[in-house]
Amino acid sequence: MKNVFVVANWKMNPSTVKEAEGLFQEVEKFKKENCQVVICPPSPFLYLGKKSVLGSQDCFFEKKGAFTGEVSPSMLKSMGCLYVILGHSERRRFFKEENEDINRKIKGSIAAGLTPILCVGEDDSSDASTKIKNQITEGLKGVPLKKVIIAYEPLSAIGTGKPYDINLAAKRRVFIRSILSKIDSKNQDIPVLYGGSVNEKNCKKYIEEAQFEGLLVGGASLKPEKFKKILENL
Ligand code: PGA
Repeated sequence: MKNVFVVANWKMNPSTVKEAEGLFQEVEKFKKENCQVVICPPSPFLYLGKKSVLGSQDCFFEKKGAFTGEVSPSMLKSMGCLYVILGHSERRRFFKEENEDINRKIKGSIAAGLTPILCVGEDDSSDASTKIKNQITEGLKGVPLKKVIIAYEPLSAIGTGKPYDINLAAKRRVFIRSILSKIDSKNQDIPVLYGGSVNEKNCKKYIEEAQFEGLLVGGASLKPEKFKKILENL
């Protein structure tokens, strides 16, 4: 099997330290050759993932200062994070994050030594090509391509139990690659992941048929048995 990323996005779950401890204990038993598992818990639980490769679900772009409630990229780095998910559709939707904000966060993360995972994807009401193109070109403005990972997540598939059609996903991947090659034709090794209702049954298809370099897993990453099966079935 080719090298793939499997990024677990726990979102705002679970509710308590005790539950998070239990979840970490389970997922830290799972290993899979050629597979880089990245666990992205809520920030207060990062310290529990001592044996995990860790990612954050967001960060602010400033290094420190009077920004009540925010968490800086260097704080995350010092907690052991290597990755940070940025521009997730839930952040765009509920917290009104724009491509320009996400671009600043990407730059701040790279400066702190984190690898940003930029989420892009269309909703049903938008023209997919324009939306994705803008999210990538504006999100990555002035950013060295080799420092980032892209995650394609169509909104209709996120948390709905309705995984996106494999052939359409494959087309979107090719489209994303074409945009990336226009930005920098020399750095085409960056991984493009798929996310949206990934489960143990469809996971392999997104890697083998649609040719993605990894998966961003939400709901199924909170159920150790399901998450284990995803890794086994890849
Ligand atoms: P889902 O979430 O796997 O529950 O659809 C994916 C995500 O939002 O990253």
